[in-house]
Amino acid sequence: MVVHILWGDVLFRIAIDGPAGSGKSTIASRLADRLNIDYVDSGSIYRAITRAIIDNRINYKNIAELTSFIQNLNIEFDSSSISVNGVDFSAKIRVASVNSLVSEVAAISVVRKKVNNILGLIAEKQNVIMDGRDIGTVIIPDAELKIFLNASVEERARRRFFELNNGEDLSYEDVLANIIHRDNIDSSREDSPLTKAADAIEIDTTKLTIDDIIRQIMERISSKNYAL
Ligand code: CDP
Repeated sequence: MVVHILWGDVLFRIAIDGPAGSGKSTIASRLADRLNIDYVDSGSIYRAITRAIIDNRINYKNIAELTSFIQNLNIEFDSSSISVNGVDFSAKIRVASVNSLVSEVAAISVVRKKVNNILGLIAEKQNVIMDGRDIGTVIIPDAELKIFLNASVEERARRRFFELNNGEDLSYEDVLANIIHRDNIDSSREDSPLTKAADAIEIDTTKLTIDDIIRQIMERISSKNYAL
């Protein structure tokens, strides 16, 4: 039996996909801490691009205008912050205006290409935990472990509602409507729709605690003969 030492002789990349509120970012960042691996939140890049489009009043439906705009965006991030052209965007990407538009922006192929280039450079050379909608299907199709998290739409909206600091005065119904809207666009778009990779492990998190989910994933990692 070959036992791979984590952060040793081979790459170890975990792809975590799933719809909004399924627990991806909480689980991914906990696992990253536990395994001492970098965490990349791919959704934050789509959100930052969307915020830049809003702030600069870009007509994103005009592909020529959008293409030249995003070519000039320099996006940098670490596990807790993201900046666009040197400006910290961390506090302004999880707001209602971005929530409403991000799925439409993320469905556009030139936008996906820009994000895929950034993510691909990371995934080809280092251990990473990446979460999103197409990580296991498109970005890291050969990931060493793929997880697909899901939960009922009501539970996902409930979690999001309680996460909000709610300076924007959103009701549970507003949050639920936004999640349904994004689920529909994300799952039905032509380019890299939200879908479970055939070899991903699906976990329904509706009734599970965070510790339960982490335990299940850690068991999978051990069963793959990675020494933790
Ligand atoms: O955190 P939440 O699940 O609400 O969303 P997110 O991960 O921040 O992603 C925001 C949006 O970006 C999603 O609704 C998708 O439209 C898009 N996205 C995507 O298309 N592909 C990814 N790999 C990640 C996010």
